[in-house]
Amino acid sequence: MRRWGRRDGRDRYKIVTALNSFHGRTLGALAATGQAKYHQGFQPLPEGFTYVPYNDLAALEAAVDDATVAIMLEPVQGEAGVYPADPDYLQAVRTLCDERGLLLVLDEVQTGLGRTGRLFAFEHYGVRPDIMTLAKALGGGIPIGAMLARQEVADAFAPGAHASTFGGNPFACRVALAVLDTIVGEELPEAAAKAGASLRERLEDLGRRRGWIREVRGLGLMVGVELGGVAAADVMAAAQERGLLVNAIGQSVLRLLPPLIVTEAELDEAVGILEAALEAAAGSASQE
Ligand SMILES: Cc1ncc(COP(=O)(O)O)c(C=O)c1O
Repeated sequence: MRRWGRRDGRDRYKIVTALNSFHGRTLGALAATGQAKYHQGFQPLPEGFTYVPYNDLAALEAAVDDATVAIMLEPVQGEAGVYPADPDYLQAVRTLCDERGLLLVLDEVQTGLGRTGRLFAFEHYGVRPDIMTLAKALGGGIPIGAMLARQEVADAFAPGAHASTFGGNPFACRVALAVLDTIVGEELPEAAAKAGASLRERLEDLGRRRGWIREVRGLGLMVGVELGGVAAADVMAAAQERGLLVNAIGQSVLRLLPPLIVTEAELDEAVGILEAALEAAAGSASQE
């Protein structure tokens, strides 16, 4: 991004990202992450990052100045508690980038490759990024990360400008190609869209029947459950004891990221376990 921002003799290097974002744990990605708790102990961080509230266009516009080169966002904020971008917002961010000559960078490390019910989450929004990052699902368990860019942007790198010892290694790349063949060939994004809709329906039904669930949000099989009257960490522990892995975010959100191949029978079982876990967590809370 910064090399691209300087290709025309201008000195554009600032990157605007969102509060509560999560972009990773190398120093650059950590600096891009808009959460002070992750910065703790790693300062000084690289300069030039500004954080603005997510889904707030006015704040983003106000943060852009003549030294800004890029806006970097997650299409769905995962670590923040599963908050999808508003369609109007992401489309307006694309327009802002076009008008101001900025790069739109979408971090699809968590959302990419079928998770949200489309191959890439940006497809839900009708916008295309200039740069996209991928990892997690790309390797099917093998460590690999990738940055994709429009040709003109990729041209900011000459060979060797951004190399690394294991970068582009044939083994990881061959695995990623096989993973891509499987995800696309077995239509896993479509499966995730279907299973995600079914999971959200079951969770909403559980909330209506039993309470404790204030909101169910997300895209495809990236689902956030906003809880009420029960602590997310207690529910996570109770679910784990019963054989279901979920993730607690903050006090009140559960994040569910089931496998893209999850079946209806497994969803039934999972929601049954979650119901028991909610009951157990609520019971232990009322005894305190
Ligand atoms: C949106 C997003 N970007 C990037 C990363 C990569 O993080 P790490 O550097 O910890 O692998 C993650 C990991 O959870 C993520 O959710």
